[in-house]
Amino acid sequence: MLQAAQTSLGYLPADAMRAIAQHLMMPPASVEGVASFYAQFRFNKPGRHRITICTGTACYVRGSGAILGDLQTDLGIPSGQTTADGEVSLESVSCFGACALAPVVVLDDKVLRQQTSDGMKKVLQDIYAEVGPGESCGTCASASEEGGK
Ligand code: FES
Repeated sequence: MLQAAQTSLGYLPADAMRAIAQHLMMPPASVEGVASFYAQFRFNKPGRHRITICTGTACYVRGSGAILGDLQTDLGIPSGQTTADGEVSLESVSCFGACALAPVVVLDDKVLRQQTSDGMKKVLQDIYAEVGPGESCGTCASASEEGGK
């Protein structure tokens, strides 16, 4: 039921977990306890785009920690959160099982191999270019300023 709710809604809001608990005649805390045990469940509404960066050993030694730090700075959110404008969710995983491609980032369902911070800045610029004028992340704003000089 938790998986079905997440598939339908994109995440597990508290209301959905309460409804499941009521249906199963269980305390809501029991349902939340089960859901929080599994890493597959998300409790915050996902952004329009989802960036997942691998921080496993192979990726980390090839720079994924620095890339993650730059993404957090540019987006203004920690890993596990969604930007206030709802455009981007940032997540990290321990290994995608594609270590030969390290450092690996997955944008929505697209695997980005051997990524760099500069490569991710371009990804963010492309995302916010879709949104249009008036919306920008930290990277896009600074790129616009540099381009305007
Ligand atoms: S450590 Fe990153 S894909 Fe395996």
